[in-house]
Amino acid sequence: MTESRVDTVATPEVDEVVDPSAARLEVRDLTIEYSSGGYTVRPIDKFQLDASAGELVLLLGASGCGKTTLLSVLAGILTPSAGSVRVGSTQVVGLSGAALTEYRRKHVGIVFQAFNLLPSLTASENVQIPLRGTGVSTRVARERALALLNRVGLADRVEHRPGDLSGGQQQRVAIARALAQNPPVILADEPTAHLDYLQVDSVIRLLRSLADSGRLVIVATHDDRLVPLADRLVNLTPRREMESRSPETTELAAGEILFEQGDPGELVYVVESGTIDLVRTREDGAEELLITVTPDGYFGELAPMFGLQRAATARAGTAAKVTGYTMRDFRARHSGTVGELLSGAVDATEGDA
Ligand SMILES: Nc1ncnc2c1ncn2[C@@H]1O[C@H](COP(=O)(O)OP(=O)(O)O)[C@@H](O)[C@H]1O
Ligand SMILES: [Mg+2]
Repeated sequence: MTESRVDTVATPEVDEVVDPSAARLEVRDLTIEYSSGGYTVRPIDKFQLDASAGELVLLLGASGCGKTTLLSVLAGILTPSAGSVRVGSTQVVGLSGAALTEYRRKHVGIVFQAFNLLPSLTASENVQIPLRGTGVSTRVARERALALLNRVGLADRVEHRPGDLSGGQQQRVAIARALAQNPPVILADEPTAHLDYLQVDSVIRLLRSLADSGRLVIVATHDDRLVPLADRLVNLTPRREMESRSPETTELAAGEILFEQGDPGELVYVVESGTIDLVRTREDGAEELLITVTPDGYFGELAPMFGLQRAATARAGTAAKVTGYTMRDFRARHSGTVGELLSGAVDATEGDA
């Protein structure tokens, strides 16, 4: 299936005028928790974001870091544990009933990784789905679908079914569908994940053009090839591994906490004296002692190495002294492969803090 070029057909004729104040996003202290096998995971922790009309924001981060979770809250599909989301003049958290339906329909358009088109319907019919039950006549809905498909460069594919379209074309149908109600905000979850580079090209141009026409476009991806596309980059899993800085020695009184489960982690620690307990808190509040680290043992290497959150709390069992190293400095001291490093850590199997 050949890909038609978006740049020749992106005629801005479909409600491209978006009220800029309706495309303002303000996220404050957003925290999202899930329960996972008896533990609480908190992929999004006190997250802040400001963005406005005309911007393309890239949410970048490894698989599992919370991109879909975050988009789901912005879309009004998932209720967060704490914090607020404002889109235009709407406070999204706390919306219910008709107001929530109205928000989901009119304010945000969603583009999924897997396109989510109905295979038995034509491109035009797929784009018309969001217009059903909104009082729009069949004729008007059909005309609007045609205009939108023209907007995304698929005027010649209106009657095709998804199975007869390339991945890039299907994604453009999905984008046309997301635009059906002319939302000021477009949310796209890994929109290029299943596409080859030719198809990626047309989808990228299209997303960029939606921002340039005055919408706010938020794209979640782990594909850092998309970085040049962004006006604003939000890295959900910053890695600090390559930074070098002086080792930090910390003295802890018995019972004092070095880091908490769920914290971001930058340093790996070597115990100089005393003991450190690695404990994990269960969802019901009960604590499990994973391991006690004694002098010359080390712990906490997974978080800085892989950009993960701390999987346990580190608390002094007795008065203790620990030294924290960046991963790079630590590896300079402990020669060996990553495998040896991981198996040498006292907490490598269970207490992967
Ligand atoms: N419904 C759910 N129940 C429990 N845990 C979940 C649920 N959805 C996602 N998670 C967990 O939340 C974290 C973030 O997931 P997700 O938002 O899908 O990440 P991403 O989209 O960045 O790959 C993961 O650890 C995942 O296992
Ligand atoms: Mg995801």
